[in-house]
Formats: sequence, structure tokens, C-alpha cells
Amino acid sequence: MGKIIKKIGVMTSGGDAPGMNAAIRAVVRTCAYYNVECVGIYRGYQGLIEGDFITLSSRHVSNIINRGGTILKSARSKEFRTSEGRAKAYQQLKNAEIDAMVLIGGDGTFTGGMVFNSEYDFPCIGLPGTIDNDIFGTNFTIGYDTALNTVVEVIDKIRDTASSHNRLFFVEVMGRDAGFIALNAGVGAGAEEILIPEEDLGLERLLESLKRSKRSGKSSSIVVVTEGEKIGKSVFELANYVEENLPQYEVRVSVLGHMQRGGSPSCFDRVLATRLGVKAVELLLDGKTNVMVGLINNNIEITELENAVKGHHEINKELLRVSDIMSI
Ligand code: F6P
Repeated sequence: MGKIIKKIGVMTSGGDAPGMNAAIRAVVRTCAYYNVECVGIYRGYQGLIEGDFITLSSRHVSNIINRGGTILKSARSKEFRTSEGRAKAYQQLKNAEIDAMVLIGGDGTFTGGMVFNSEYDFPCIGLPGTIDNDIFGTNFTIGYDTALNTVVEVIDKIRDTASSHNRLFFVEVMGRDAGFIALNAGVGAGAEEILIPEEDLGLERLLESLKRSKRSGKSSSIVVVTEGEKIGKSVFELANYVEENLPQYEVRVSVLGHMQRGGSPSCFDRVLATRLGVKAVELLLDGKTNVMVGLINNNIEITELENAVKGHHEINKELLRVSDIMSI
């Protein structure tokens, strides 16, 4: 029998993602529903170390389901990586009489939770919140769908100007080491080529494909690339390389950057965040700990935090083939 949970802390940590507010709202209101106190922890683990807390009632989370960002703010704490930092954090939790925590974030957030749990046996449940969709144990992370829609909307706009000037655009999107955003937004926006870290198609193939596009009479071309090095080159080096080898193309680069993390969450992300938030509190009250709550085939499933961190969320490479057929 685990200890009785009377007060739950909630934090957002790591890169923010649209839908984090909807998740906070779900946690706060589920706590209220079960007569459990809820405490918001500001700035992730850094706020935890500093005891930067706020008691949250249902009304504190009114009208935030539609808001991007996170009302609790977010941070990547270096201090929490040290045992001294974690000792301070534990003391703050004890002082505030917090019995358990819901951690909303990605890999780094879950790793912090796991280490903390192993050192202090403190109940923690993770919710996957990141635009990258790179978490094992869920088909979708909170924020990913909104980011996809943002990227598709922007590429549509880039397409307008690209086609007016008969240009080739390289559009760099976020994703850290994962190509989920590039691949799915690329297919959704009808990109001619998609470069993702999971599949190195090589420079020759890229040139061949672009030649083929030109021959088939396309007025514009869009190549979507995941941030970081692609085929050994930065997006700007890649653009120069193509311009040198295919002088028939006038090339431009557009790096989308942090706009992908902002904006009002899509309905999908709001519903996902709400379902996962409710379940996280219910699991803590049932004595569960050290797991992440995710969505697999539209069912809520739990995964050990360790597996969520160590496991690999496989990308659907079949979409590359689909994209190839569509770019004929
Ligand atoms: O993990 C989310 C993410 O936006 C990644 O896609 C990106 O690589 C990184 O965070 C950027 O981090 P920062 O906001 O610290 O520059």
C-alpha cells in the first residue's frame, strides 16, 4: 500500500509545447474533483529547487485550455542534475507537504523524474509534452499536432511566393534528432523532398529528384529538412550545394524556428492533454508511480519512465515512399 496522496504538484519542464496549459488544467481540475490539493511548480525543476510554488484551484486554470505556452513557465535546470540540487528539491517538497508530482515534458524531464524517484522514492508520473513527438510509449506527444498544423500553414505560404518566383525553397523545421515534424508536415504540405535524420537518402538522390521536378514542369519546389546536419551539411550548405550543381534553380532557405512551439493548441492536442492529465492524477491516487501516460491506438496506456526514455519511437518510413509517389 503506497502512502496516501493529499497534495499533488504539477510542473512543465524542457521546451514548451502547445497543449501544456490544457494538461495543467486537467491535472488541477482532476485534483479538485477528488478533493486533493494541487500545487503548481514554476519553471520546472529549477522552480522546484527554489520552492517557487502556487496553490492552484479550478478557477486558476479558467480560460487557459486555448492558450499556447505554459502558465507555469518552463526551464532546463542544470542544478537539478546535481545531487545537491535534488536534495534541495526534496526538502522543498517536504516543506510544502507535496506527496506526488505530475511532470509534463520530454526525455530530459522524465530522466530527472526517474533519478529523483530512485533517490527519494517520491511518486512521479510523466505526461509527454513536446512538439518533437520523439517519446516512446505514445503515438502522439502533446503539442506535436499543433506544431504540424503550424508548419503546414507556413509552408503553404512559402509555396505561394516560391511559385510566383519559380524558386526552390529549403524549409528547416524543428524536431531535434527526430524527423516526425518534417515527415508528416512535408507530406501534408506536398513537399517535393523530405530529409529526416532517420533515413539518409544521399545527395545524389536529392539532385536527381530535383532534376525530375524541373523536367516535369513544376513551377516551385519545397524541400523540408529536419534541423541539424542533413547528409553531412547544414541547411545553408545544402542549399549552396544544390544551387552550384543545379544552376537552373534559384534557391532560398527558410528556417522556421521557435514559431513552431507557439500558438493556440489544436483540438487534438487539447483533448489528448485533457485525457492524459485526468489519468495521471487517477494513477497517482491509485498508488502508481514512475510511469508515463500515453496514447496508443486511441487507448490510454502506461509505460515505465525508464522505457519511455530508453525506448525508440519508430517513425513511419512508409510515408517517405508515399511522399515520393506524390512528388511525381
Ligand atoms: O524539444 C523541443 C525543441 O523545440 C526541439 O525541436 C529543438 O531542437 C529544441 O527544443 C530547441 O531548444 P531551445 O528552445 O532551448 O532552443
